[in-house]
Amino acid sequence: MRELLSRLLFNHNLSTVDGGENILYHLSDWPQDNCRSTSKQTSFRQGNSPDFNPSGDHNDLDYSRKSGSEYHESVLLDEVTHYLAPDNNKLFLDATLGGGGHSEELLRRGARVIGLDQDPAALSFAKARLSTYDDKFGAIQGNFREFGDILSTIGISGLDGLLLDLGISSRQVDDADRGFSFSKPGPLDMRMDPDAEITAAELVNNCEEEELARVFYEYGEERASRRIASAIVNRRKEKLFECTTDLANLVESILPRRGKKHPATRVFQALRIAVNNELRVLEEALAEVPKWLRPGGRLVIISFHSLEDRIVKSYLKRCSRSVIDRPEWPEPKQNPDYCFKLVMQKGIIPSKEEVRNNPRARSARLRVAERLPIGVSNAE
Ligand SMILES: C[S@@+](CC[C@H](N)C(=O)[O-])C[C@H]1O[C@@H](n2cnc3c(N)ncnc32)[C@H](O)[C@@H]1O
Repeated sequence: MRELLSRLLFNHNLSTVDGGENILYHLSDWPQDNCRSTSKQTSFRQGNSPDFNPSGDHNDLDYSRKSGSEYHESVLLDEVTHYLAPDNNKLFLDATLGGGGHSEELLRRGARVIGLDQDPAALSFAKARLSTYDDKFGAIQGNFREFGDILSTIGISGLDGLLLDLGISSRQVDDADRGFSFSKPGPLDMRMDPDAEITAAELVNNCEEEELARVFYEYGEERASRRIASAIVNRRKEKLFECTTDLANLVESILPRRGKKHPATRVFQALRIAVNNELRVLEEALAEVPKWLRPGGRLVIISFHSLEDRIVKSYLKRCSRSVIDRPEWPEPKQNPDYCFKLVMQKGIIPSKEEVRNNPRARSARLRVAERLPIGVSNAE
């Protein structure tokens, strides 16, 4: 357990998918076309969302009831569709398929889509929802950190667009048995992939106090991280944590509720990020993207908290500078990572109307970059 925890926390790779065991549905022949996105810019809302920093706090609302959506209300749907500019010739990877809402819109406009999700329940739902597009849609279970291997396995060599709509779906939050919600009693689980190695309960019951404090501070930006970690360690001497509300109540006993936000929001976010190794997985996936996008192909990413967005923003910044310079260098150098054009400088945030209709969208931020015809690639 100790070895497993140290592999998982902070800087370590924890593979949750056996490449040979991915579930492949409807693997039709995916012809390889070389297409260039031609969409024109339209005006979407750019800037700082007041709710953006720091927590995506998906937990504090019953989204399915508020939005009226059956599974998950797709966020920034028009904007994603606009920037991916789907048409009959294009092939997209929706690497966070979820309820299939974004994929459905791309398919409706004639594109072909490969949908990837590590949650088999999401795959089943999306597969049923998109069954009328059998000839244009394939659903695969897997972690997007391994999307390159997965695409190779099914014979794909290049994409016209890749979508990452990060985090968890409303259905995952609302299903108490998944353990993501602090407002409903359920097992303290939080694994997106139910076969992944470690649950939130195992982290909470086995981590050293110092490690727990670091998880809460680094992944939840929780200022009371040490106090909470210490209270957890004291309480687990009496009784181990099994239930979501046990943990939520303990946090609330330390940080009394102020305003609408539940005091356990940040602790739950931190545990979810740690259990699913979310930041590391994102970094690994981003590093693979240039190899797979064809020139003109677009990377579209929606993030829901500042930790994710920081990773996306700094990656895109690094890859969109043609020249780099350092004080110790005699002159600037060509940037070996240069391969993207930023489609917009600032991220796009949802309109007020979207946030009114779907409060979960309020912390979303969309960034888009376009692959340039330069740099290392197996898709050119
Ligand atoms: C916000 S939801 C996507 C919703 C979807 N765009 C829609 O319109 O219905 C995110 C989904 O990504 C999945 N997911 C998150 N991280 C993943 C990863 N590393 N690999 C594969 N799937 C992941 C989650 O299981 C969840 O179903």
